[in-house]
Amino acid sequence: ALRGSFAQKAQKADRRFQYNFQPRASYKVAVLGAAGGIGQPLSLLIKMSPLVSDLHLYDIANVKGVAADLSHCNTPSKVRDFTGNSELANALKGVNVVVIPAGVPRKPGMTRDDLFNINAGIVKNLVEAVADNCPDAFLHIISNPVNSTVPIAAEVLKQKGVYDPKKLFGVSTLDVVRANTFVAQQKNLKLIDVDVPVVGGHAGITILPLLSKTKPSVSFTDEEIQQLTVRIQNAGTEVVEAKAGAGSATLSMAYAAARFVESSLRALDGDGDVYECSYVQSDLTELPFFASRIKLGRKGVEAIISSDLQGLTEYEQKALEALKPELKASIEKGISFAHKQT
Ligand code: NAD
Ligand code: LMR
Repeated sequence: ALRGSFAQKAQKADRRFQYNFQPRASYKVAVLGAAGGIGQPLSLLIKMSPLVSDLHLYDIANVKGVAADLSHCNTPSKVRDFTGNSELANALKGVNVVVIPAGVPRKPGMTRDDLFNINAGIVKNLVEAVADNCPDAFLHIISNPVNSTVPIAAEVLKQKGVYDPKKLFGVSTLDVVRANTFVAQQKNLKLIDVDVPVVGGHAGITILPLLSKTKPSVSFTDEEIQQLTVRIQNAGTEVVEAKAGAGSATLSMAYAAARFVESSLRALDGDGDVYECSYVQSDLTELPFFASRIKLGRKGVEAIISSDLQGLTEYEQKALEALKPELKASIEKGISFAHKQT
């Protein structure tokens, strides 16, 4: 009887832990770069989603072990591994959402743009395979420099004749996650309540948190605005320096990317109330790509929320103008890379 009751308690613990994971829909997600610092914890978090039936893990190496390991979790989704270019097409067939965290991360002293020479080619090759095998999938780009890799992806998809701007996303969720955390800490707010839109791009001064639009409404001194803005813009570098050569943000990034995947799946599943910030093709400014709040729907970006750019403070307006030349140059660098390769 004692054994029985322990068994029941263990089962109850498992059920309690699992109750969020009861299957609610069946979408297929592929992670390209799944054996990496981001790829592994991201794949774990996606394995916990009740909206996922199949999880395809692709990398150029070491992905068999990651998949074997993850497949032992008693959550519903099936995990499959795919190694190397010859297995890439099969990793992508029938997939609804593709997430790309493949590529090299920064070391101290580097900018995200210093990663361009290696990561641009990696993203180009992977997106070509996406175009050939699952052109209708939502495509989430994490690989840096995001300001350039998203325009590269757009050009590759155009060259293949399958570009749908509503389905291509630069993942800038981590900037929002950081802004929410830092503002809640600074202002002693309940974390769950805080939402700060972050617009522009995903590098240095192109990351522009709109602190005046923070929900709940909260007032900041000029010093607080300056200090919080700079902290949010340099948060990636803060982690790169703390890791001292061992890479950049992976765990917080996995958390942020998993949130964006879950939001995309909810939108695909018909939830009509899904909003996220993302770096997308946009007509909010004169730049062809811009991060802002968007509404997600079954077909991808359903609306770009323009109200965030109205009624900016003088500080925000100046910062917006100041970021445009750098963001424009990064976009053009991506586009011309994609054209040179053809
Ligand atoms: P990592 O080196 O730990 O992992 C990268 C993985 O990509 C490795 O497993 C590697 O084998 C794989 N890879 C390399 N070339 C590949 C290819 N052609 N196809 C498939 N996989 C390939 O790096 P990480 O820490 O996971 O970071 C990955 C990228 O994400 C970096 O470019 C980093 O700058 C970026 N990043 C972006 C954000 C963001 O907010 N968007 C945040 C953190 C990191
Ligand atoms: C981040 O913001 O943490 C990432 O873009 C990684 C980096 O290089 O800072």
